[in-house]
Amino acid sequence: MARESPPLLALHGITKRFPGVTALADVSLDVRAGEVLGLLGENGAGKSTLLKIVSGAQRPDAGTITWQGETATLATPHQAQQRGIVTIYQEFNLVPDLTIAENVFIGREPLRATGLIDWPRLARDTGDVTRRIGLDLDPMMSVRDLSVAEQQMVEIARALSMQSRLIIMDEPTSALSETEVARLLRIMDSLRHAGLAVIFVTHRLTEATGVCDRVTVLRDGRLAGTRPVAGLEMDELIRMMVGRSAEQLYRRPATRRAPGPVRLSIRNLRTEGVTTHGTVLHGIDLDVRQGEIVGIAGLVGAGRTELARAVFGADPRAGGRIEVDGSPVRVHSPRDAIRAGIGLVPEDRKLQALFLALAVRHNFSIAALGQFLSFGVFVRERAEAEALEHYRRTLKIRMSSGEQMVVNLSGGNQQKVVLARWLALKPNVLIVDEPTRGVDIAAKAEVHELLDELAGNGIAVMAISSELPEVLAISDRIITMREGRITGDLPAAEATQEKLMALMTLAPVDA
Ligand SMILES: Nc1ncnc2c1ncn2[C@@H]1O[C@H](COP(=O)(O)OP(=O)(O)OP(=O)(O)O)[C@@H](O)[C@H]1O
Ligand SMILES: [Mg+2]
Repeated sequence: MARESPPLLALHGITKRFPGVTALADVSLDVRAGEVLGLLGENGAGKSTLLKIVSGAQRPDAGTITWQGETATLATPHQAQQRGIVTIYQEFNLVPDLTIAENVFIGREPLRATGLIDWPRLARDTGDVTRRIGLDLDPMMSVRDLSVAEQQMVEIARALSMQSRLIIMDEPTSALSETEVARLLRIMDSLRHAGLAVIFVTHRLTEATGVCDRVTVLRDGRLAGTRPVAGLEMDELIRMMVGRSAEQLYRRPATRRAPGPVRLSIRNLRTEGVTTHGTVLHGIDLDVRQGEIVGIAGLVGAGRTELARAVFGADPRAGGRIEVDGSPVRVHSPRDAIRAGIGLVPEDRKLQALFLALAVRHNFSIAALGQFLSFGVFVRERAEAEALEHYRRTLKIRMSSGEQMVVNLSGGNQQKVVLARWLALKPNVLIVDEPTRGVDIAAKAEVHELLDELAGNGIAVMAISSELPEVLAISDRIITMREGRITGDLPAAEATQEKLMALMTLAPVDA
């Protein structure tokens, strides 16, 4: 990249305080036209806060912002947009009932002389921008019918149609499949070639080193440094992020415990019709033993989340048997599942797992599961506070106190609170669905270690993850799924990413 060109955006000495925390302290960074800048750091390091300041959603307490060499105020999202700064949030700003075209040009639709919308032109103009990013869909399709990845691309198309100069993406890859991630990274590359600047936040370091020109690392709200990616060693990057080297992060013990008797047994589990997630399960047979971690690998739509939800009683089953410790259990609701000793850390923490408007303490509390439990669980506040403190330390949950509202925690720390709540419930069977989505690498190692510890204590763990390295790292045995069926079952020691990919894409045998 042209290193001599003046930066498009430069931040100097940005400080931002919230009650009880300094989210950013004296942070400076710059981004140039034609580059992708990675913004990295552990959960709670201040990444999202910094991006909110750049996008005009929040104002810094101190510091200056320069845009193309001139001091600028970005007091509102509108002011930021006027300069060509567009932010693509994880919760999309699309109107589901409108078409792709209407969403791309919302408020800016081309009009006829009569003042009515010029539909043919709207469709054409939309096609022009969507094609640039390889989104090959009818502009007249309703946004409601699009996948998460496609909706994200509509947001990018809208940014392009607005002649944006800087596109900000906060963890855009966390909800995407591997092929979708690859496509998004290619789009970022093309944006760079078109002379735009991109700021990209991710916890997956290979994505960052794969697409970024430079990375800026935050640690505890402070600038840990900015480095060109060329020649940057992974270990140095990790050290900048977490203050210690990768060597000291969790390494799975070489000797594994021998699994005990079967704790969770699933026979001929079937669903039908429309479940929340869509994929129908066809006769799933699966055993998870005491002390065993069974990883579930599969592409989006393979039925992994559906399996978790069906076992947990969150979706209705059409048939099949579930046994825990050799006894059949009737699981028709999450309440039944919890009584039977089955816990689920769901995939989407925001929608299914947290009460955002409540304090961490209440979210952690097993009483928060009261909606599932018919009998009252007597919670002694003191014991609860101690337990919360225990998990805050082991999971390194970054919060000012148990009284802090969950909505004000960083994304990764919200995930840790969900995890802590289920761990505190001490289930016999624990199902975790994408347990480290949005969790930073150090915390990820901690979560892996914790799952290992749980298994060591005899819990049967079923772990769903879209990241194959993660599945390989944590599992004793790995099941692959496709189209609602199991397509493979192998000991982790014999598994490789290639073998798993082959099984995940293998056409399932029709039962
Ligand atoms: N509105 C708020 N009120 C109080 N504290 C806040 C608020 N927003 C953020 N914080 C705190 O500021 C710190 C930085 O949060 P931020 O969301 O920027 O982290 P992050 O780097 O994006 O983390 P993650 O990787 O988990 O998304 C955290 O300690 C967070 O709890
Ligand atoms: Mg964040």
